[in-house]
Amino acid sequence: KKVVLAYSGGLDTSIILKWLQVEYGCEVVTFTADLGQGEELDPARQKAEMLGIRPENIFIDDLREEFVRDFVFPMFRANALYEGLYLLGTSIARPLISKRLVEIAEEVGADAVSHGATGKGNDQVRFELSAYALNPGIRVIAPWREWSLSSRTKLLEFAEEHQIPIAKDKRGEAPFSVDANLLHTSSEGKVLENPGEEAPDYVYQRTDDPETAPDTPQMVEITFEKGDAVAIDGEAMSPAALLTRLNELGKVHGIGRLDLVENRFVGMKSRGVYETPGGTILLEAHRGIEQITLDSGSGHLKDSLMPRYAELIYNGFWFSPEREMLQAAIDKSQEHVTGTVRVKLYKGLARTVARWSEHSLYSEAHVTFEDDLGAYDQSDAQGFIQLNALRLKLLAARKRRMG
Ligand code: ARG
Ligand code: SIN
Repeated sequence: KKVVLAYSGGLDTSIILKWLQVEYGCEVVTFTADLGQGEELDPARQKAEMLGIRPENIFIDDLREEFVRDFVFPMFRANALYEGLYLLGTSIARPLISKRLVEIAEEVGADAVSHGATGKGNDQVRFELSAYALNPGIRVIAPWREWSLSSRTKLLEFAEEHQIPIAKDKRGEAPFSVDANLLHTSSEGKVLENPGEEAPDYVYQRTDDPETAPDTPQMVEITFEKGDAVAIDGEAMSPAALLTRLNELGKVHGIGRLDLVENRFVGMKSRGVYETPGGTILLEAHRGIEQITLDSGSGHLKDSLMPRYAELIYNGFWFSPEREMLQAAIDKSQEHVTGTVRVKLYKGLARTVARWSEHSLYSEAHVTFEDDLGAYDQSDAQGFIQLNALRLKLLAARKRRMG
């Protein structure tokens, strides 16, 4: 029996690795992805080797470009926000990890995949729905739902018993749980569990405090082509390089912090602290370019689809026909979303201050407060208002009649 494990190299997934070998008698294949979480991958390889994984069973991939190009950017075309605020940084990474797990399983002839998500959260759902959608026969082993290592003490005992090295700072409870990638860092649990208490400063890891951010604003110009960002300040960049650059800018100005109580798919509420510096700038800029390039019909329709689309991603249905249907509609809307936006970064905020495009629908000739030289006939507005008012008048008349 062979299983492919999503392996971070950290203590928890190292314990899972051993547990799969010992309890399941599995041959373990490890998969470690660079999604821009900002951690070296070499230590993960060394640790896997040390835990007895043969070199040909260690898979390490740099997925940063694929992540941003094929997952983050398509999602940003929709301006997706879950429950009005969350930019879905963890949610959007899970389907890609599952896709590689399933591909590797097929490559090495494994019949199962495994992950380190707990039995209480969204991530187990996302990993597993994605895996089953891509390979209906795959087996999934979720140790957190199965094992008897129910306390930190038991976990550490298991680690010690199997010679898994434990970093000094890992002896105590980690103060909270972190998930990071190029799009965001999320922190949950432990010191954050009481939503009535403000998150301590040390929770924030990738953004500077907006209150002590520079006193002078900074401008950044983002160029879009068909809804995707392609250049910063005139310099063309790959998707991952572009998001990396926006993250650097957002960090300095303290942009993209969010403290949110959200509804998990499994029913409970949870409190999370999110940092999405580059993504927050990108969302603002994308809305800025849509303002001049989308007409109201397609713009309002895609806005109405957005909450449903965001919920699908949050709930783990990236690889589903309904997400693909919505994506097709959203992508179609982006055909003319091309142009440049200037965004001002200042003390925690990213604000669009200018936008221009060859595809612009904005007509100064029509909207001007000055003489429009016949571009627009104001008498057209009179009939327009009268017809729209007709049923309101009939309703008002009835109200007067009947009280
Ligand atoms: N609540 C977020 C989501 O469901 C993040 C989950 C993972 N974060 C973590 N710190 N373990 O997408
Ligand atoms: C986890 O439970 O593993 C993290 C939180 C979540 O998936 O919602």
